[in-house]
Amino acid sequence: MSDASLTDPFGRRIDYLRLSVTDRCDLRCGYCLPKGFKGFEEPAHWLSFEEIERVVAAFTALGVRRVRLTGGEPLMRRGLTELAARLSALPGLDDLSLSSNATQLESLAGPLARAGVRRLNVSLDSLNPEVFRQITGGDLERVRRGIAAAREAGMEPIRVNTVVMRGVNDTEIEDILDYCAARGFTLRLIETMPMGATGQAAMSAFGDLEPIKRRLEQRFELIPDILPGGGPARYYRVAGTETRLGFITPLSQHFCATCNRVRLTVEGTLYLCLGQDHSYPLRELLRTGIGAAELQAHLRQAIALKPERHEFNERPGQVVRFMSMTGG
Ligand code: GTP
Ligand code: 5AD
Ligand code: SF4
Repeated sequence: MSDASLTDPFGRRIDYLRLSVTDRCDLRCGYCLPKGFKGFEEPAHWLSFEEIERVVAAFTALGVRRVRLTGGEPLMRRGLTELAARLSALPGLDDLSLSSNATQLESLAGPLARAGVRRLNVSLDSLNPEVFRQITGGDLERVRRGIAAAREAGMEPIRVNTVVMRGVNDTEIEDILDYCAARGFTLRLIETMPMGATGQAAMSAFGDLEPIKRRLEQRFELIPDILPGGGPARYYRVAGTETRLGFITPLSQHFCATCNRVRLTVEGTLYLCLGQDHSYPLRELLRTGIGAAELQAHLRQAIALKPERHEFNERPGQVVRFMSMTGG
C-alpha cells in the first residue's frame, strides 16, 4: 500500500486534509481578521462542491482518511450540510470533523451530525460576555447555545479551543476548564501565531502557557495522556474526571516533526504548511477537466513541496495571509 499513500520529503505520512470552505467569518477575533476587512475571495473563485469532492476523492485514493472542515467560519458556506453528506459518503474517508465558532450551530448542529460530522472543535476564548465581545465582536450566549446544541446532537468529542492572551483572558482558564469538565469537553490552550498583520500585532499579548500550566497544577492533577489522531496538542487528563487538557504550543515547542496535514483554501490553493507560503494551485487544473489519475499525480507533486517546519520564531513577519484563509 505504500505506493498508494502520500509521504513528504521528510518521511511524514500525510493522511489529514484541512478543507477551508469559505474565507468569510461573522466574527472578528482580533488575532485573526481585521475589523472592516473586505478582501475576501470572489465567489467565482470558490471551488464548487463538485470540485471539492473531486479533490477530496483524489486525496482519499492516496490514503487520506481524515478531513476537517474549516473556514473562515465554515458554517457561513451555504449548503455545508449537503457538502458534508457528500464527503462522508466517499469511500476511505472515516473521520469528518469541523472547526467552528459555534454562532450558527444552534440550528445546524443536528443536520451536520446527521450528515456525518462527528468531531467538533469550537473556539471559545472567554466566558465573560463583555470580554468575549471585546475579543470576537460576537454574542457569547449565542455561542453557548450553539455548543449546547452540538452536544445535544451527539457530536463527540467536543474540543474547546482557547487562544490565551495575556491581560485579556489568561485569568479565566480555570473557569473555562470547569465549564469543559462539567460537560465532558476537552480544553486546548493555544499560543497565538503571527499569521498576517493581525496575528503579528496580537503577539504583544502572547500568553506563555508554561506558567499557566504550573498555576493549573496547583488546583488540578494533570496526568500525561495521548489522544489518537496525531494533532498538534500535547494532552493531560485532569485526575478524577474524563476531561483532557491540551497545550498547542507552535512557538514555545513546535510539533512539526509529526505533522500529518495539508490545507486547501476555498479558491483551490493547496498550502503545504500553515506557517509557510509553499503552495500548489489546483483550481485551474480542476477547471480544465483533468481526470482522477492526473489529479492524484499533481497532489503527489504538491506534497513534495512540503517544507520541514514553520519559522514563526525566526521569521515572525513572514506569513502575510490571515489565519482565516486556511482556517488554522
Ligand atoms: P484535531 O487534532 O483533529 O482535533 O484538530 P486540530 O487541533 O488540528 O484543529 P483545530 O482547527 O481545532 O486547530 C486548533 C489550533 O491548532 C489552531 O490554532 C490551529 O491553527 C492549530 N493547528 C492545527 N494544525 C496545525 C499545524 O499543523 N501547525 C500549527 N502550527 N498549528 C496547527
Ligand atoms: N494564532 C493561534 N490560533 C489562532 N486561531 C485563529 N487565529 C489564530 C492565531 N493567530 C484559532 C482560532 C480557532 C482555530 C481554528 O484557530 O481561535 O480556534
Ligand atoms: Fe472567525 Fe475563526 Fe478567525 Fe475568529 S478565529 S475571526 S471565529 S475565522
